[in-house]
Amino acid sequence: MADSTSLAETSTALAAPAAAGPDIRFEDVAITFEREPVLDGISFALRHGETKAIFGIAGAGKSTILKLSLGLMRPDQGRILVLGEEVSAMPEADLFELRRRLGIVFQESALFDSLTVRDNVAYRLMEEDVVPPEEIEKRVREALRFVELEHTLDLLPSELSGGMRRRVAIARAMINQPEILLYDSPTGGLDPVTSTTIVELLVKQRDVFHTSSLLVTHRLQDAFTMASHVFDPQQNCMVRATPEQRQQIKMTFLILHEGQVIFDGTLTELKGSRDEYIREYIS
Ligand SMILES: Nc1ncnc2c1ncn2[C@@H]1O[C@H](COP(=O)(O)OP(=O)(O)OP(=O)(O)O)[C@@H](O)[C@H]1O
Ligand SMILES: [Mg+2]
Repeated sequence: MADSTSLAETSTALAAPAAAGPDIRFEDVAITFEREPVLDGISFALRHGETKAIFGIAGAGKSTILKLSLGLMRPDQGRILVLGEEVSAMPEADLFELRRRLGIVFQESALFDSLTVRDNVAYRLMEEDVVPPEEIEKRVREALRFVELEHTLDLLPSELSGGMRRRVAIARAMINQPEILLYDSPTGGLDPVTSTTIVELLVKQRDVFHTSSLLVTHRLQDAFTMASHVFDPQQNCMVRATPEQRQQIKMTFLILHEGQVIFDGTLTELKGSRDEYIREYIS
């Protein structure tokens, strides 16, 4: 894997001091669509530097949690705090500012088909119009180098494989050094081998930048891998964590079921759960 130090250094230099509270907090949040309660009073916290994997069957409300965190939807009940700001009660103009501090990898990548990889990754910086063009080019190259796709700068998304498109989407989400990353099913629809390369990239992102993240996934295995591996900068790859390193990995699991959070805890707690639904889920 390519050198990622310069990006990491820039990120550390620009990083805001850690807020006192958690980076994301949901307090008794409920939302109903067409009289169907999708989230029915859920509470959880994402601590600074933590990765929380969110599980639940299709339609459980996983993407809804991400959209609520971005203030793209408002809850019918409860409060949502992101980086200390109450997104559930913020005017749209302020939400715009807050969203700059977050990065999202949408379900199915959601790249712009008619734009090159370069322009897809640069998009947010160009839109914000505060970074000079030479700096944009440098940052785009750094982000693409991080995901090992610098050679695809001038290609269109249609010229890339599914796994490569996901990597571009991750580079795009990282471009403005976000304090929180929201991943919506980054391995969805990929074969197991390609999924592992994406998981490796998420581990690298976590261990190089320590970005807090919510990770929606259908694959329990992906989150198990993340909880048991670390990125080794010497070998430039993901390796199995030693027992000491495992203790350092800030990874939690949250399971949604019928609008409720039925589990929120560590891998050890998950494996020790006596709840019948959870046991079935993880078997
Ligand atoms: N804007 C909306 N208007 C109406 N219904 C919606 C809206 N957004 C989500 N829903 C409904 O809310 C439920 C939860 O949707 P959500 O997209 O959060 O599920 P999910 O857990 O991400 O599912 P999947 O695993 O399929 O991605 C679904 O039944 C969906 O149809
Ligand atoms: Mg979804």
